[in-house]
Parts: sequence; C-alpha cells; structure tokens
Amino acid sequence: MIVSFIHGQHMEKEELRLAELEPEHEAAFADYLEAVRAEGDDSRWLAEYQDLPYAGMVEKLKCWKTGEKLPSDWVPASTLFLMREGKIVGQVSIRHELNDFLRRIGGHIGYYIRADQRMKGYGGLILKLAMEEVRRIGLNRVLVTCDEGNIGSQKIIEKHGGVLENMEPTEDGPPKRRYWIEL
Ligand SMILES: CC(C)(COP(=O)(O)OP(=O)(O)OC[C@H]1O[C@@H](n2cnc3c(N)ncnc32)[C@H](O)[C@@H]1OP(=O)(O)O)[C@@H](O)C(=O)NCCC(=O)NCCS
Repeated sequence: MIVSFIHGQHMEKEELRLAELEPEHEAAFADYLEAVRAEGDDSRWLAEYQDLPYAGMVEKLKCWKTGEKLPSDWVPASTLFLMREGKIVGQVSIRHELNDFLRRIGGHIGYYIRADQRMKGYGGLILKLAMEEVRRIGLNRVLVTCDEGNIGSQKIIEKHGGVLENMEPTEDGPPKRRYWIEL
C-alpha cells in the first residue's frame, strides 16, 4: 500500500509504503540493521535477524506469515517494513492471534521506528497502515500495548482509538499499558 504523507507544517509530500521484505531490499535492510544496532537496541526481534543470510531472512519472514517454521510458542505474524525512497524507516509486526504472553504483554501489534527518523509522524503512520493490514487479516479488534512511560507510543495508541483496559505488571520492567482498538 502506498500513501502520500504530508510532514507537519511543511506540506512536503512524500510517498511511503508498507512492504514485506523482498530480495531487492537487501541493501536497504543492511542499512536499517546497522542503524538499529548502532542505537544499542537489543530487542528480541533483532536477535531473530542475527547470523542469517539475507535470503534466509526473507524466507523466514514469509514462513512466519503463513505459520510455518515458527519458534515454539509463537503465532503466525506478518512483519512489514515502512519504506521511503528505497530506505527502511521502521517495521511493524502483526500477530494474527494471541497466545498467553501476547494477551498479557505483547499484544497484536508491535512497531519500531529507527532513531534517526523519530518525531516525524512515522510512528503514527505505521500503526495506521498496520490497521489496514489487520482488517485484511480479518480481525475486528486488536490489543496494542506499551510500557508505562513510553509517552510517544502511548500518544500514538490513544490517537488511534486505543481504550485502556489495564496496566499489567511485568517481571523485569515497567508495567504494560494494555489498550484495545476497535476496527
Ligand atoms: C515509540 C515510537 C514508535 C514513536 O515513533 P515516532 O515516529 O517518533 O512517533 P511520532 O512521530 O508519530 O509521534 C507521535 C506522538 O508522540 C510524540 N512523541 C514521540 N516520541 C516521543 C517521546 N520520546 N517523548 C514524548 N513524546 C513523543 C510526538 O511528539 C507525537 O505527538 P503529537 O501526536 O502530539 O504530535 C519510537 O520512539 C520507537 O520506535 N521507539 C522504540 C520502540 C518502541 O517503543 N515501540 C513501541 C512499542 S509499543
């Protein structure tokens, strides 16, 4: 899906799209990974990208989408990348169903914008585009969570209709704010 995106007050139009990882995105993906690693991010999803040739990564994500070769306790999930002018700005994971961990902590949707592209509206945009995908998958409500104190994510979720259900304590960090969004 391609959208025209107008930056804040600048009226500067640019085209962005949410795309699956394809063989032709290899250079863009390498650049994105380098940026994410340089940020010192140690997210669980990043570990999934380690030590795998690019073609294997592309195949792995396509398998996860259809529910093949999933790590144990994982559910089918689409991983899509926000692309602008051939560069990857961020990514979103859409889990097609919930397991116990996702229902309590992770939710249906998790998104990430690379640090040098934050505060430009892309976080809000990636959730908006992800909701279109969610509709295609056939869900009519989604759980989206964020850490207490993650003001940017909290604003994004609430702006997109998130209704807070509760704050879920976690073992090793701040509580999770659990929101439902009706589609
Ligand atoms: C959270 C995250 C996705 C926000 O992305 P972003 O592209 O900067 O978000 P946006 O530019 O769309 O900002 C949305 C709103 O949040 C505000 N905001 C964003 N980051 C903020 C921050 N660190 N502190 C305070 N406000 C912030 C913006 O000003 C904007 O407010 P507005 O709607 O009043 O204008 C990004 O910081 C990120 O990837 N963080 C690491 C991963 C993460 O936390 N993912 C979310 C897991 S639930």
